[in-house]
Amino acid sequence: MRHLLDTQHLSRAEALEILDVAEDMADTQRREVKKLPTLRGKTVVNLFFEDSTRTRISFEAAAKRLSADVINFSAKGSSVSKGESLQDTAQTLQAMGADAVVIRHGASGAPRTLATSGWITAGVVNAGDGTHEHPTQALLDAFTIRKRLFGDDSRGRDLDGIRVTIVGDVLHSRVARSNVWLLHSLGARVTLVAPPTLVPQDVRGWPVEIDYDLDHAIAAAPDALMMLRIQLERMNAAYFPTEREYSRRYGLDARRLADLPTDSIVLHPGPMNRGLEISAEAADSPRSTVLEQVTNGVSVRMAVLYLLLAGERSDTEKEDLR
Ligand code: NCD
Repeated sequence: MRHLLDTQHLSRAEALEILDVAEDMADTQRREVKKLPTLRGKTVVNLFFEDSTRTRISFEAAAKRLSADVINFSAKGSSVSKGESLQDTAQTLQAMGADAVVIRHGASGAPRTLATSGWITAGVVNAGDGTHEHPTQALLDAFTIRKRLFGDDSRGRDLDGIRVTIVGDVLHSRVARSNVWLLHSLGARVTLVAPPTLVPQDVRGWPVEIDYDLDHAIAAAPDALMMLRIQLERMNAAYFPTEREYSRRYGLDARRLADLPTDSIVLHPGPMNRGLEISAEAADSPRSTVLEQVTNGVSVRMAVLYLLLAGERSDTEKEDLR
C-alpha cells in the first residue's frame, strides 16, 4: 500500500488485510511491553490543519508503539497562519525526511493533492478531509463491529449480511461517507437515518437505504447503530428547528436503546454531544463501544502505518509481530 486516501477505492481484500494486521497489532498491545521495533528509523509527520484530539493522539501512539519518530505539526502557531501554502509546508517536511505524512485538512481532496502532486515522496494517510472521507475511522469502526460480533473468530471475516444503521448529520460527515463505502465492500447492509435536510444530494448513488424515522429504523433490528455528531461548526444555516426537537426525533435515548435487540451495539466516533445525538445512558451503556473504538483505533493505525512503511519487509520480520 502506497497511500491511504479513502475507502471508496479500497478493495475488500485490502480492507481485510488491514483489519487482520490490526488484529495482530491488538495482540501485541496486550503484552506488558507494547512497543515493537518495526518502524525504527522511520519518521511519521502528523500534519493537522483542523482541530483533533483522539485522531492525532491515536496516530501518535500508533507510530510510537512501532518505534517510529513522530513530528506533530498543527497549523495554529505555524507558518500556515502566515499564509504558507500546503505545497511549501509539505516540501519543508519532505526536506526534513518524512517517510509518512498523516494529514487532516478542512478541504476535501487535500490528501489526494498531497499524494499525487509530486511535491513529496512520503506515503500519505488521510486523517479526515473536509466532509469527504476519514478512512481510518471507518476501518476502526469495522474492526470494532467485527470484534464485538465475532469475538476471537474475527480474522479473515467480512461483514456479509450484517445490518448497520448510521444516524444523524450525514451531510457534514466524512465518517459516514467512509463507513458507507467500506461497509458496502465488506458486505454489510447500510441504512442512513437523518432529517431530509441532513441527507446529501448525491446519496442516490450510494449503496444505502434511507429512512427518515429513527424508531422505524430501530424496529428493523440493526446489528450496529452508529450515532454521528451534529457538526455545528460546519453548519452555516438552520438544518433543524431546535436542538431539543432534533434530540427528540433523532437522538438515541434510554427508550430507543431499550428497543434495540439485546445484542446490538452502539458506536459513536467522538467527540459526543451528550444530550443531543446521544444520551448519557446510551453513551455509558454496556452496548456502547465508544472507548473500544478508541483502543481499536490505535491498533488499526499501527496496521496502516506498518503496511505503508514496512510492507516490503521480510516474512521473518512479520513473524516478530506474532
Ligand atoms: C470525527 C471527525 O473528525 O471527522 N471525529 C474523529 O475523528 N474522532 C467525527 C466528528 O468530528 O464528529
